[in-house]
Amino acid sequence: MAFDIDMIREVYANMAKRVDMARDIVGKPLTLSEKILYSHLWEGNPTKKFERGKDYVDFAPDRIACQDATAQMALLQFMQAGKQKVAVPTTVHCDHLIQAKSGAAADLISANSTSAEVFDFLESVSNKYGIGFWRPGAGIIHQVVLENYAFPGGMMIGTDSHTVNAGGLGMVAIGVGGADAVDVMAGMAWELKFPKLIGVKLTGNISGWTSAKDVILKVAGILTVKGGTGAIVEYFGEGAKNLSCTGKGTICNMGAEVGATTSTFGYDDSMERYLRATDRSDIADAANEVRKHLTADPEVYANPEAYFDEIIEINLDELRPHLNGPFTPDLATPVGQLGAKARENGWPIQVDWGLIGSCTNSSYEDLTRAASIAQQAVDKKIKPKSDFGINPGSEQIRFTAERDGLLQIFENLGATIFTNACGPCIGQWDRSDLKGDEKNTIVHSFNRNFSKRADGNPNTHAFVGSPEMVAAIAISGRLDFDPMNDTLLNEDGQEVKLEEPKGIELPPQGFDVEDAGYLAPTEDGSSVEVKVSPTSERLQLLSPFVPIKPEELQGVKLLIKAFGKCTTDHISMAGPWLRFRGHLDNIANNTLIGAVNAFNKKTNFVKNQLTGEYGGVPDTQRAYKAKGIKTIVVGDHNYGEGSSREHAAMQPRHLGVAVVLVKSFARIHETNLKKQGMLGLTFKNENDYDLIQEDDTFNFVDIADFAPNKPLTIEVVHADGSKDTIIALHTYNDAQIGWFNEGSALNVIQRENA
Ligand code: F3S
Repeated sequence: MAFDIDMIREVYANMAKRVDMARDIVGKPLTLSEKILYSHLWEGNPTKKFERGKDYVDFAPDRIACQDATAQMALLQFMQAGKQKVAVPTTVHCDHLIQAKSGAAADLISANSTSAEVFDFLESVSNKYGIGFWRPGAGIIHQVVLENYAFPGGMMIGTDSHTVNAGGLGMVAIGVGGADAVDVMAGMAWELKFPKLIGVKLTGNISGWTSAKDVILKVAGILTVKGGTGAIVEYFGEGAKNLSCTGKGTICNMGAEVGATTSTFGYDDSMERYLRATDRSDIADAANEVRKHLTADPEVYANPEAYFDEIIEINLDELRPHLNGPFTPDLATPVGQLGAKARENGWPIQVDWGLIGSCTNSSYEDLTRAASIAQQAVDKKIKPKSDFGINPGSEQIRFTAERDGLLQIFENLGATIFTNACGPCIGQWDRSDLKGDEKNTIVHSFNRNFSKRADGNPNTHAFVGSPEMVAAIAISGRLDFDPMNDTLLNEDGQEVKLEEPKGIELPPQGFDVEDAGYLAPTEDGSSVEVKVSPTSERLQLLSPFVPIKPEELQGVKLLIKAFGKCTTDHISMAGPWLRFRGHLDNIANNTLIGAVNAFNKKTNFVKNQLTGEYGGVPDTQRAYKAKGIKTIVVGDHNYGEGSSREHAAMQPRHLGVAVVLVKSFARIHETNLKKQGMLGLTFKNENDYDLIQEDDTFNFVDIADFAPNKPLTIEVVHADGSKDTIIALHTYNDAQIGWFNEGSALNVIQRENA
C-alpha cells in the first residue's frame, strides 16, 4: 500500500495551515519536530500548547511498518478488531527470521522452509486486510521504508526500535509496541508524551575517513545510551545539509541507541535528490512547494538555545572516525586510540569478522565507500586477515550493487553475501568459526553491540563503525589499525597504505531491480483465508479475553512478589522464546520466569498456595487457572520497564493473572495491562509492599465502584488470619475502565465495529 501523492498533498495542506496555528498558540517560532507533531494531532487543528516532557498527546500517524517478529502478535490482535481493512497504510517486512549461514541463496531457502508457516500467515493476513507485504529477502524494514515510504514532514510508527531510521528523510518516525500499532491500524489515536527536544548543530564538513556514522557514534558517546530518553533529536546546520540523505538515515537510525524517541533532519537538497533517485519525483515536487514548513523556522537555528531543551554542537571538520564498543554502543573511541584501550582492558586485538550492512549502513553510498577500500586490498595485494560478511539492506540495493560490480569487489576478497535481511544484527547468525564461548573480536557497521547480540556468544567483543572503517579494520585484521596513519604489509612484503574511501551518493545509472519482493494486497480481501494450523507451535489465533468480574476479585492469590528490577524481559523473556511470539499459549510458558521471588530470592520458584509446593511461575499459575482462581503479581519500582512488547501483559492475562500491584510502573507497560483488561495498580503507601506475605489472599472490597481518580481498597488476608488494608492508586480514565469492564481494549473496538 504505497503512498499515493494525493495523500501526501493532504498532509502538506494540513501542515501549511496547522504550522501557522501552532506557532500562534506556542507563541514563538517552531522547530521542525514541533511542526510535524502539531500537524499530526489526532484532534486535527491545534488548539492548545503542549508541555514538553509532560503532556500526553494523541497523534494520527500517516503510516505503520511492522517486521516479521513483532507483526505476528500485532496482526493476531488486529484480526480481533473486527475491521475489514487497516485504517492507516501499513506494511509488513520479513527480515528478522532469516538466519545468515552460507550465503543468500541457501539461507533464504532454509528460512522459507523453517519459518514457512509464519511467512504464509503474515502474507495471508496482509492480503486480507489491505497491508503491503514484503517477502523474505526483499530487504530490511527500515531500508525498504526509506526507499519507498518515508517522506519529509510525515509521521510514522513501526513495531521496531529502528523505525527512527526514516528521520533521514525528514520524518518523525517512532518505534512502538504491537498494541500501539494495532490501535492505529484499527483507526484509533496513538498516544505519546510530548517529547523534549535536543538540537544537534553540525558545522563544517565530513571528509576523508570520517562518515555520517561517526556523527552518531560521537553523539552516542556524548549522550550515552540513556541521554536521549523522551526526546526528539533534531539535527541542523551547514554540516547537516552536506550529508547525504542515507547518511542522515544512519544518524537517525542509531538515535535508538541513545534512547531518543526519534531523530530528524530538515528537508534539503540531499533529500530531494534521494526522492528523485528512488522514483518519487512527485513527492519531491510536493515537498518543494511547502519547503519552509519542512524545516524549523529560521529564528530557531539562528538562536537554538532559546528553542531546544539541550544543544550539542559538533564540528565535522574536526570529527575523527570512531569505533564504539565493546558491549555498548556509547563507548566511543576515536580510531587510533583503540589499540591502547583494548590492551588496557584485555579486548582481543585480532579481528575475526568484519560485517557490513544492516538497516543502519547498507545504502549505495555505504557500499561504494566500503568497496573502494576493498578494491584497494585487491589492487595492492593485501590479503584480508578477517572474514567478511555483507547484508545488503534491500533487493533494490543488492540488485543495483551487483549490476555496478560492487558485490563482486567484496566477493573478490572472499566475502559472503548474506540475504537482504537482518541476519547477524539480530543474532540470526550460524557462525561456523566459533568453537565455544571463546573470547574474540568482530567489527560491524550495525547499530547495537550488546553482549550476545550478533552470535549468541557473551565473549564476542563487537565494535561498531562505518562500513569503510569496518572494511579497513577487517582487511588489517587488527583492532589497533589506524588506516589514516598505519601501513599494511602486502603479499610482496611491501608496506602499503590504504587511501581515503571514495563514495558515490546515488547510483549514476539509477537504481534498478527485477523483483523487489513486494506483494500488494488484493482490493477486496473478504474472501482471503488466513492460514493458521490448529496444531502449529508458532502461531495461535487469539480468542477475546473474558472480562474479569468483581466476584473473581475476591479470594485472589499471590502468584509472585517480585523483588527488585522486573523488566519486560523478566516478564517475557526473549532469546529462544522469540520463535513463539505468535503463539500466546506457548510463549506464556516463559511468563515471569526471570522475576526474582522476594521470599527466596530465586527466579522461577514460587509457592503454590493450594498445595504448599514450590514450582515454576507458569506451572503454578496454570494450577490456579485450572481451579478458576485469579491471581495477583506484586512488584517493585518501574515494573515493566524495557521494551514495549505487549506479550508482557498478554501472557499473564492469558494465564489468569488479574492484577499487577507495584510501587511504580513503566508507563507503557501500565498502558499495556490496561489494554488487556487487567488491573494495573500502585501502592498509595510504598511501604505496604513489605506487608505482602507469601500465603496472602486479596479481596478487592470496592472494585464494584471502580471509577477514575478513586483509589481502590484491598483487604490482604495473611495465612494466620490477620488482615491488613491497603490503598491502591490507579490512573484509569473512563475509557480505560471500559476496557477493563469489557475484557480488553480490542473487545471494545470489536463491539464498536460490529
Ligand atoms: Fe534488523 Fe538490526 Fe535493523 S535487527 S531492523 S538490521 S537493527
